[in-house]
Amino acid sequence: MQIIFYADGGAAEQWLTELHKALPLADVRVWQEGDSAPADYAVVWKPPAAMLQGRTGLKAIFNLGAGVDAILQLGGSLPAGVPVVRLDDAGMAVQMAEYVSYAVLRYFRRFDEFDAQARDHQWRFLKPRRKEEFSVGILGMGILGARIAEALLQFDFPVRGWSRSRKEIPGVHSHAGVDELDDFLAQSQVLVCVLPLTPGTTGILDRATLAKLPKGAYLVNVARGAHLVERDLVDLLDAGHLGGAMLDVFHDEPLPSDHPFWNQPRITITPHVAALTLRGDSVRQIAAKIKQIERGQPVAGLVDITKGY
Ligand code: NAP
Ligand code: GLV
Repeated sequence: MQIIFYADGGAAEQWLTELHKALPLADVRVWQEGDSAPADYAVVWKPPAAMLQGRTGLKAIFNLGAGVDAILQLGGSLPAGVPVVRLDDAGMAVQMAEYVSYAVLRYFRRFDEFDAQARDHQWRFLKPRRKEEFSVGILGMGILGARIAEALLQFDFPVRGWSRSRKEIPGVHSHAGVDELDDFLAQSQVLVCVLPLTPGTTGILDRATLAKLPKGAYLVNVARGAHLVERDLVDLLDAGHLGGAMLDVFHDEPLPSDHPFWNQPRITITPHVAALTLRGDSVRQIAAKIKQIERGQPVAGLVDITKGY
């Protein structure tokens, strides 16, 4: 079996070592420009179009992440009929739950303000926020959104979720489709975005959407930078409509050093680390799926190209 590998960002040698260990009979090679030799599988993160173009002989393309936007934007360069398989969880869901729980608790318990006070040696009581008025709304109730909801329910936060299809998750108020978006937004004191990036969700966090949140609401974006219209966020923070934001993803990554977000004290920035791809878990998952495909069995995590996720 031949496997071609490409990961934007490096560490190819470690990936190859792990893949060799998990699939000792496979011949795994790093794809290089000009390599058009046959392959059965591709394991990729942000691959160049030339790697996959015309490779209709592949049995599957494995994406080394949950989001497949970088693969799907290859459009016509993707070999027709070849299944694309995303990582499903592979250790990412608990990381997302940690990240979002931290963001929500920090804002809810006013730890950001206590930090600022402590820097000025100020001992000052701040009125606690009321949990019953502090609904957390999660945009995207897939693998990651559902795990975030589970974590927040442990702290007794009222949790709402928005997705295309209605969900039956105990304790979570489910909103489905565009018709129920406004009601969802009006009741979300914290808005968490964990949607896939598709034509239907690009720019969804714009002025019109964010203005529908209650005054003082907090935004957490752990999905993709292109979900957010960055200028609109700055305007709504400046106008006092939004209380703050914690952002992990940006239009341009790395975030340019002269970007206005760096100077906005109410924006907390992290460098796309909310849920990292864990090499061991990911290789185990991919190797198990390759074995399932070889046995003619179905695999989880198949991407629906028409939906974009
Ligand atoms: P997923 O399992 O595919 O779930 C996607 C969810 O979004 C589903 O609930 C889906 O609704 C909903 N959705 C999609 N399009 C929608 C629309 N137009 N309107 C309403 N709901 C819509 O994805 P996941 O594994 O949870 O991952 C989500 C995203 O997180 C990834 O695509 C990636 O961009 C991002 N991510 C970021 C990091 C990071 O470190 N920052 C790490 C991993 C992933 P249905 O359930 O009804 O289909
Ligand atoms: C990371 O951003 C991912 O999509 O897994």
